[in-house]
Amino acid sequence: MHHFDYKNGTLFCENVNLADIVNQVGTPVYVYSTATLERHAQVFQIAFTTANPKRDVMVCFAMKANANTAVLATLAAQGLGADVVSEGEIRKALHAGVNPQKIVFSGVGKTDEELKFAVETGIYQINIESEGEMYRLAKIAADLGKTMPIVLRVNPDVGAGGHEKITTGFDDNKFGVGFTEAKRLYADAAKLDGVRIQGLAVHIGSQIFDLNPLEEAFTKLRGLAQNLRDAGLPLTHLDLGGGLGVPYEFDIPHPPEPLEYAQMIERVFAGFDVKLAFEPGRMIVGNAGVLLTKVIDIKNRPNKTFVGVDAGMNDLVRPAMYEAFHHIQPLHEPKTGETFIECDVVGPVCESSDVFATNRSLPIAKVGDVYALMTCGAYGAVMAGTYNMRRLVPEVLVNGDKFSVVRKRQSWEELLNADVKADWQ
Ligand code: LLP
Repeated sequence: MHHFDYKNGTLFCENVNLADIVNQVGTPVYVYSTATLERHAQVFQIAFTTANPKRDVMVCFAMKANANTAVLATLAAQGLGADVVSEGEIRKALHAGVNPQKIVFSGVGKTDEELKFAVETGIYQINIESEGEMYRLAKIAADLGKTMPIVLRVNPDVGAGGHEKITTGFDDNKFGVGFTEAKRLYADAAKLDGVRIQGLAVHIGSQIFDLNPLEEAFTKLRGLAQNLRDAGLPLTHLDLGGGLGVPYEFDIPHPPEPLEYAQMIERVFAGFDVKLAFEPGRMIVGNAGVLLTKVIDIKNRPNKTFVGVDAGMNDLVRPAMYEAFHHIQPLHEPKTGETFIECDVVGPVCESSDVFATNRSLPIAKVGDVYALMTCGAYGAVMAGTYNMRRLVPEVLVNGDKFSVVRKRQSWEELLNADVKADWQ
């Protein structure tokens, strides 16, 4: 559920007319809804309390999905921690006010500098991705006179996800350690100074619509966890990752509800006393955001109409990178009986893949019309770049009838001064 709806023929975010944002901030611009963010944070957390009130659960928002300070602060106020994958994300989470004791560090390639920073900062847990990383961290923490809580990320050889590029759980994906070596590594970790191994982690993919592969992976994980306990090894924590999908297309079956997900997990871990952590990204922020973009050109070819907009693949790369579908809604609600035509909605970047929609049925557009690309709150602004020397796009947060620019459009000075001439020029 989200808070972007037509009122009196115009698209609103909560009680803000999106046309007002366009007039004041310009396009392209990302707009987020506080009410939607808060609702998703609550629904996710309540699902677990409902499924098992006794279960100790920590929800760490996967901030790779949206690292805007205002978004993070909104979610932190709802009690969420952060799942981070780099020193930059740790710094940003702290900057936004996330409690360090709710930060888990789960990146696949962590440098010594990043590990040191994480230990010094005193975050909650580091999710270990490889044997090498485990020994590097143990030495770094021991040299600092600290003991870092860790979990071992295992690869259950069960994958899932909306696209092959966002599937992580198969044996031939680069993530985690194999099930077979996990037991040996876990036992080795338990003897190491500098780390305290407390459990296991798993994350099998993103944009998952089917609970079955998740259930299969969690069942395997429980088996391994039980095995470790039976061998006398300490195990108090399991991190079950993120991955629940969001409905990019409105007319296909919806992804599982958080409650169904929580109930499935309680089925798998019935009678198994363990603290659970989750790293949801997309389901928290996905449909809490839209990208507004203006029509700048219309080109009629014999077999095709191209509607050119001012946002490009540098602002939203998902369609070009994963063939992702995003609904497109005009700011003005189509009237009954209005003529629709099939068109391609394309960006201004010099790449054939800079296409937001192909053969999409939309009301006949004119230059100056504004579209909302829906469900852009996750992996949208955060993956933006300046390719073609295009300025980074601004972000706006709506709350009731107020809105605030929470990231300014990059200025020409910032863009031009990002690099300089060489010393000899
Ligand atoms: N935890 C780990 C270890 C992850 O690798 C990810 C996502 C998450 C949690 C959060 O997953 P979510 O709940 O958002 O599905 N850029 C792609 C998605 C990449 C996901 C990478 N890992 C996209 O735009 O679809």
